[in-house]
Amino acid sequence: MTEAILLVGGQGTRLRPLTIDTPKPMLPVAGRPCTEHQIARLREAGVTRVVLGTSYRAEVFAEYFGDGSAFGVELVCVTEEVPLGTGGAIRNVLGALASGPDDPVLILNGDVLSGHDMAGQVAHHRAHDADVTLHLINVDDPRPFGLVPTDADGRVTAFLEKPQTPEEIVTHQINAGCYVFRRRVIDAIPTGRPVSVERETFPGLLAAGAPVLGWVEDAYWLDLGTPLAFARGSRDLVTGAAPSPALPGPTGPALLLGTATVHADATVDGGSCIGDGAEVAVGALVRGSVIMDGAHIGPGAQVIDSIIGRGSRIGAGTRCEGSVIADRAVIGAHNELAPGSRVFPDARIGDTVIRLSSDRS
Ligand code: GDD
Ligand code: MG
Repeated sequence: MTEAILLVGGQGTRLRPLTIDTPKPMLPVAGRPCTEHQIARLREAGVTRVVLGTSYRAEVFAEYFGDGSAFGVELVCVTEEVPLGTGGAIRNVLGALASGPDDPVLILNGDVLSGHDMAGQVAHHRAHDADVTLHLINVDDPRPFGLVPTDADGRVTAFLEKPQTPEEIVTHQINAGCYVFRRRVIDAIPTGRPVSVERETFPGLLAAGAPVLGWVEDAYWLDLGTPLAFARGSRDLVTGAAPSPALPGPTGPALLLGTATVHADATVDGGSCIGDGAEVAVGALVRGSVIMDGAHIGPGAQVIDSIIGRGSRIGAGTRCEGSVIADRAVIGAHNELAPGSRVFPDARIGDTVIRLSSDRS
């Protein structure tokens, strides 16, 4: 039996206003929370027990997943009263683990979609008797990530979280946010204060000469931390570019959930997902977008690479591109929302011709 810990306590600041009501890992990506896609993949890799390290809006996870039986795993939620950081969150769930001291424990960042071979990563960790084995990938721009160079034997030589200067960019190989830990290593993380696994635990293990290995595998991978990435993750799941056993329907150009309705003279494509009870009216175009439950896209409206929250209404002829509209907002007719626009929950924007834009993406 392998156990897994999911780190799901972050505030999801870059996804505001979507994360005001819903924690980032619970936002519907192709109709299901990221956490549910991750649990389905863990189960496929042989994991039977999942511990959620929650903090921000912890109750949302407990309500949705219960004891995990509906998702084919045994599930436990452990909540931090104050956020303890990634390492503190891992240490905080120790009492809920059933693993023995030398057993491997899988640990996942809760906002990542990955198609990599987790069972292979665990087998590699066991075969080399490592303390920690990190999934690593190569990216064009490593700056928003943890940089993880390895030597010829695949041993990690350094861990540089979010480099600040060009000199620090020593590799394009980054931490993909999926670790295997020997359980004893978790026991050794300090308690009672925030700890960053990236800034403290990994550098500390390396300084002590502990065996920390890389598992380099360039399968499908995406961090869902920004609105554009979130919309992309959803469309990649819908089209099948990203694998998930939890996709609630067949892969294709669009996914319609429950009682979603699309007018015969509307176009929905590019991996769009239309939520339960949502409507796309005559002449509208929805491309590469996430339309959440109960939202309404008016006649002739155009919604491109955008996220439309639950119960929101987009007026006739309005165009949204690269925009994020939170829940229950009402946008009148003939507006134009330029890339980077963000509309807060319950906002009202009238039937005037205005243009909202911002430099944030
Ligand atoms: N329980 C708990 N408590 N979880 C937390 C806390 C906390 O205090 N802080 C963050 N998390 C969770 C978040 O919910 C998220 O799932 C995960 O830890 C990582 O946090 P992010 O805020 O998404 O970090 P990041 O994307 O900037 O960077 C991390 O991920 C990159 C890969 O996606 C780092 O691990 C980088 O090294 C890595 O490259
Ligand atoms: Mg992240």
